[in-house]
Amino acid sequence: MSLNDFVVDALIRTERYKNTRLWTVENHAKYSTLTAPLASSGNPSRFNLQIFQLMCALNQQGMAEDGLCADAQGQGALKDILGTLAERLALLSENRHVHYVELGPEPIKTAHLLGRITEACTSLRYTAIDINQTSESVMRDAVFPIVEQHGSFNYIAADYRTVERADLHHEQDITLITLLGFQEGNELPVTTGRLIRSLASDATYIISEMQIYEEGLQSNIHAFYANPHMIRFSQVVAMQQGFIPLDEHAVTLVRFKLLDELIHVAVTLQPVEKGRQQGCLLTNICLKYTPEQFRRIRARHCNCSVLDEFASGDGSVRYQIAKYLQ
Ligand SMILES: C[S@@+](CC[C@H](N)C(=O)[O-])C[C@H]1O[C@@H](n2cnc3c(N)ncnc32)[C@H](O)[C@@H]1O
Repeated sequence: MSLNDFVVDALIRTERYKNTRLWTVENHAKYSTLTAPLASSGNPSRFNLQIFQLMCALNQQGMAEDGLCADAQGQGALKDILGTLAERLALLSENRHVHYVELGPEPIKTAHLLGRITEACTSLRYTAIDINQTSESVMRDAVFPIVEQHGSFNYIAADYRTVERADLHHEQDITLITLLGFQEGNELPVTTGRLIRSLASDATYIISEMQIYEEGLQSNIHAFYANPHMIRFSQVVAMQQGFIPLDEHAVTLVRFKLLDELIHVAVTLQPVEKGRQQGCLLTNICLKYTPEQFRRIRARHCNCSVLDEFASGDGSVRYQIAKYLQ
């Protein structure tokens, strides 16, 4: 069963959605410019560009807002823990030839991390892998000036699940593979495991950013999806998929068992109309691990050992650095 199937199965068991017509969209259909788009009008990549720009705007806001995700005393804001992550990555990179591989790139956090790494490393090769090619020029503009002196900028327009270890040319001293922006939440743990095992080599570190599920943190998840950029994201995805969006998306948390893990998943349901039918399009499906699950899944499915974790002051966002075990 796909992640979409698990979620729909959980939703139709709820009182609220048991009689609702539900449509799903595969990640590929939502993000990819590599294949012909579905029923959308106008320029095929117009929606893809908007989707990329919305993610950038979200990151811009996330890094600019002083107290975002901080604790009650204002400590541990998102931008502060990104700074801590940057310091840790700089330490790992010290006097080394580094390859930074970004799965699903974005320019804001990346420019910050690369800026710090490049002060410490000997050379920095950067590779973005994206199915949404509208990111290429923005990433080049953000990254090239940082790597130009002692490194290179590379962009692979591909589904990262089809990229092989050999395509990454693991000849640097270390490789940092990043999954930022709650990206890991879009895939089943076994899929992330397969992805990491097919891309990683020796001296490879996996850096992931997750929104965390824990008792008491549900309101943080709801707040994230209530962000105007996320609301707009759902409407753009609906239009891209040939629906008329009606109103704003609803956010719900469902849970189901995957192997022996009870997994919580945030779902955005965009009210839509198509032809004479009304219902909801599931525009975002994102797994929210508990801190223990985040660690366990890295070891169990990805053959990695967790080196470090940095949690935001309110505990809702966590960066993890894990080392791939050969
Ligand atoms: C949730 S966004 C996260 C973006 C970014 N990492 C961040 O921190 O905001 C997911 C990104 O991954 C890309 N993406 C999704 N599935 C992909 C796939 N199978 N192969 C390559 N890129 C993919 C999308 O184009 C999009 O840029």
